[in-house]
Amino acid sequence: MATITVDSVNRRAGRIVFVPEPAAAPDGVPNSREAHRALWLSSAGASMLLLDAPTHTPRADEVVVRARAIAVNPIDAMGGIARRVVLPWLTYPAVIGSDVAGEIVAVGSSVSGLNVGDRVVGYAVGIERSRNSAEGAFQTHVVLLARLVSRLPETIPFADACVLPMGVTTAAAGLFEHDQLALELPVACATPRHQSVLVFGGATSVGMNAIQLAHGAGYSVLATASRSNFELLERLGASVVVDYHDPDVVEQIIHHLSGQQLAGTIAVASGSLRQAIAVNASPTVVGTRRVASAHPTPVTRMRAVLARRQKIRVSAIWGGNPKDTPVGPAVWNDFLPDALASGTYSTSPSAVIVGHGLEAVPQALDRLRQGARAQKFVVTL
Ligand SMILES: NC(=O)c1ccc[n+]([C@@H]2O[C@H](COP(=O)([O-])OP(=O)(O)OC[C@H]3O[C@@H](n4cnc5c(N)ncnc54)[C@H](OP(=O)(O)O)[C@@H]3O)[C@@H](O)[C@H]2O)c1
Repeated sequence: MATITVDSVNRRAGRIVFVPEPAAAPDGVPNSREAHRALWLSSAGASMLLLDAPTHTPRADEVVVRARAIAVNPIDAMGGIARRVVLPWLTYPAVIGSDVAGEIVAVGSSVSGLNVGDRVVGYAVGIERSRNSAEGAFQTHVVLLARLVSRLPETIPFADACVLPMGVTTAAAGLFEHDQLALELPVACATPRHQSVLVFGGATSVGMNAIQLAHGAGYSVLATASRSNFELLERLGASVVVDYHDPDVVEQIIHHLSGQQLAGTIAVASGSLRQAIAVNASPTVVGTRRVASAHPTPVTRMRAVLARRQKIRVSAIWGGNPKDTPVGPAVWNDFLPDALASGTYSTSPSAVIVGHGLEAVPQALDRLRQGARAQKFVVTL
């Protein structure tokens, strides 16, 4: 069998090459004979290479999951230059990917409430600062922080569940972190708070989870989306949905907010931050005047400077932050397991299965680059 080098693979841009065992690994890529395969990036702009990876023993607060379904996110679909700018700390060879669902195969010594064999979904932190390749989702065996894992009921297929992690964690960061909107956390039976939360981009993956989490915390939710998604977002818990294509979208939202206290605004969809600030700038809107933005940090910072003059505080969300704060376990361990089991939390957006096996991930990334409409591209393993 011919040996395939990283260089020869990189020349075939966008291609992925299945390397059978035994295989020559690029410098620094561990290449054992364990039945554990990973999609390796040898540099920020390289094509992904399917190679062996070592299966790790979990540290005290971790679990190892045999991945059964993974989903792709915009951050995975970036080109090399963007990856270098957004994730400057990433060391190569790297395994990226954040969304995974599967079965636990090993449990760390201090983990409670999770056991070998449990069906779970969790947020993989491999792309975060100071984390490592064992924690990227694009591999057969993924190390997960137990505090970012939820048990899954038998009724939810892995392919449906894996759409959650990035959406849930980013929405939770924006809504609940102290330096963001600092809202109250969701609970099983929330008492209505008579305060509103605005979600700009309700049909995005992050937005659908923001709607459900804010609703689960007792807030009344007002969202923006295309008309075709109104019914879907109302089912998720939005009490009012406004079409962002309407030229008077800002005025409509201000009208709907009349007489209500605005607890916070989350701007997810690209282009929506300007609208979010315009609503908060209205003298008739009463509330915290805080906007959490999922837009790229430089865009958010620029808008934040301008918004400060109108006494509006705009902050940039980093979806991975809940891994180090009480928000992560509050949502993943305390809220989601029961909410998923009782059916009060839905796995949204809907999963579109692009293929089976890690070799289908580049295809899923291509689909995402063409645009997602209230859907998430998934690969089963
Ligand atoms: N900062 C972070 O840590 C972080 C983490 C995750 C994602 N993000 C960013 O968040 C954004 C959303 O990502 P995602 O994966 O959740 O999105 P997505 O699922 O790809 O979003 C697709 C949806 O966006 C909606 N949309 C597009 N333009 C809109 C607008 N102007 N107003 C309202 N809705 C609009 C469309 O809704 P309709 O179908 O209703 O038209 C479409 O269905 C991306 O820019 C991503 O990079 C940031």
